[in-house]
Amino acid sequence: MKKLYGVMGDPISHSMSPVMMNDLFDLYEMDAAYVPFHVTSDGLETAVKGLKAIGVAGFNVTVPHKTDIMPLLDEIDPLAKAIGAVNTVKNQEGKLIGYNTDGRGYVRGLKEEIPSLSGQTVLMIGAGGAARGIYFSMAEAGVKRIDICNRTPAKAVELMKTCPFPVETEVFTIEKAEERLEQYDLLIQTTLIGMAPNIEEAPLSLKGIKPASFASDIIYNPLETKFLKEASSAGARTQNGIEMFVYQGALAFEIWTGLFPDTERMKENVLKQLGGYPC
Ligand code: ATR
Repeated sequence: MKKLYGVMGDPISHSMSPVMMNDLFDLYEMDAAYVPFHVTSDGLETAVKGLKAIGVAGFNVTVPHKTDIMPLLDEIDPLAKAIGAVNTVKNQEGKLIGYNTDGRGYVRGLKEEIPSLSGQTVLMIGAGGAARGIYFSMAEAGVKRIDICNRTPAKAVELMKTCPFPVETEVFTIEKAEERLEQYDLLIQTTLIGMAPNIEEAPLSLKGIKPASFASDIIYNPLETKFLKEASSAGARTQNGIEMFVYQGALAFEIWTGLFPDTERMKENVLKQLGGYPC
């Protein structure tokens, strides 16, 4: 029987996951379909119960449900529990199990460019939901030092305190970070500042960036944010948010099917979809 997969969120019509995932099901000749589900916060509980009742094989969860879905699931993977957010659910013999592949997906994508992450001195910009997954997964991957700058430093301190993996961290303001930029090998931009339509915005000035450094942004719309443009013109290597998006999807696909998919093909698929995306 055909297996049902999907992604739930509000809004959901712009999601690139259905085309990306259905292409993989075709490629691997799997009898499955992946559908966007528009689920509002009011309807979340009913939607989860309904999907369980009809025997959904698995689904992704996106904004604004990543945290609110947790009490509605039967089990939560320890990393997702620590992060406090679920983006992937698998139906395991009638039980809905929640996972988080965002942070690990980010790390897998970054390793394509920087194979040995552990010795890097890292500055993370932002301390919200996306930052949490990335910080925990970087620490899990053995990165020894990750400093955090945030508009509200107290939120970064809170994030640091709840990390289950050993990592050294100093927290400071954005202004302080601008003065210390030359100390870092890797800058990770985790806020949504600079995302379309606000493409002229950046979370901080990169005047002091080291030319030999690497700058990474989780945003993929536009493909090159102001943050990445500035880093690139200072000589730094850069990576946009496409890899994170592709690898979080690849890890979800692997959780559901046991097969790690062709990420190059996924990337091409996403770039094709973004070609028609309003920037
Ligand atoms: P997400 O879950 O997408 O990461 P979030 O939890 O709202 O979103 O976090 C957004 C991040 O962007 C936070 O680090 C936030 O800083 P605060 O912790 O001070 O709120 C940061 N952010 C959002 N708007 C900002 C702005 N105008 N200037 C500086 N930082 C901003």
